Amino acid sequence: MLDALKDELLSLVNAAADLPALDEVRVIALGKKGRITGFMKELGSLTPEERKERGQALNALKDEIAAALDARKTDLAAAHLKARLEAERLDVTLPARPETEGRIHPISQTMDEMVAIFAEMGFSVAEGPDIEDDFHNFTALNFPPGHPARDMHDTFYLPDAPGEGGARKMLLRTHTSPVQVRTMLNQKPPIRIIAPGRTYRSDYDMTHTPMFHQIEGLVIDEATNMGHLKGCLVEFCRAFFDVDDLPLRFRPSFFPFTEPSAEVDIGCSRRGGELKLGNYGDWLEILGCGMVHPNVLEACGIDSTKYQGFAFGMGVERVAMLKYGIPDLRTFFEADLRWLKHYGFVPLDIPNIAQGLTR
Ligand code: DAH
Repeated sequence: MLDALKDELLSLVNAAADLPALDEVRVIALGKKGRITGFMKELGSLTPEERKERGQALNALKDEIAAALDARKTDLAAAHLKARLEAERLDVTLPARPETEGRIHPISQTMDEMVAIFAEMGFSVAEGPDIEDDFHNFTALNFPPGHPARDMHDTFYLPDAPGEGGARKMLLRTHTSPVQVRTMLNQKPPIRIIAPGRTYRSDYDMTHTPMFHQIEGLVIDEATNMGHLKGCLVEFCRAFFDVDDLPLRFRPSFFPFTEPSAEVDIGCSRRGGELKLGNYGDWLEILGCGMVHPNVLEACGIDSTKYQGFAFGMGVERVAMLKYGIPDLRTFFEADLRWLKHYGFVPLDIPNIAQGLTR
């Protein structure tokens, strides 16, 4: 009789197709209400002789079924693993990470590069609002009301706020220089900041867009002089354009907020219709700079008999076009994905001085 039970249970074990089914068989055979357990419970009603014999036989059966369950369990687990391994194939020749679709816009990249270089020199980044007032954009920068230099800025003026009677004339900032004013009004010297940001002028052609970007620099201390200005800009331009012997030429110029003022040219060659940067005898203008005018310092509450300093301002699109060979300014703002795919930068290539800026 036990032989019949053994055959039945063993065939159940072998028929179990997966681990949950096998567990059901275990319950049927060895569980509290299982078949073998049932026979065990009957042992009490037997004579001592019969009980001994029957007990041994039942224990042997129990061990055999338990061993068969274990063996089947091992087989089923191995089969399960094999099936998973086959189903979850991994092609190790695929790239670890699919190529990122998005690109960093060349303007963002260029500003990040500039900030990285100036940060290394000890400048921190300052910001100001795009919507400015006439005082910060012009008056405090030594553009008196009616000064002809105001007209050159093609300013976008905003309608007067109701009830103010035009007392505080609002406009879209025409340059990043008002951030100089805001910084000097809020911070005591020594000051060493750069201010990257958007600027606006009512102008549109091959070389002008109504919105563009500038980066402004300002250094104020007790003994800062034009030599520091030159050293700073030479260092910056050589690092930014990655040309070690790039020559710079400082030409006298005029800005209301600096005295003396200069425009800076970098060396280039235009031979064969191709523009190359370096010591080739030709020149290209890239920025304006000068020593901060005493009137500006005084308008910002800084004692001009004690402090002096330099400032500079540069167009970001212009230097980006030069560095990355982008021919048309207007394409920067057309949001054409094919253009961005071509001129944009991979997001993981974050500019830093240690790895070099041009890759
Ligand atoms: N703000 C000037 C412009 O937009 C650029 C400039 C020139 C800024 C000389 C400066 C500077 O700080 O010193 O044309």
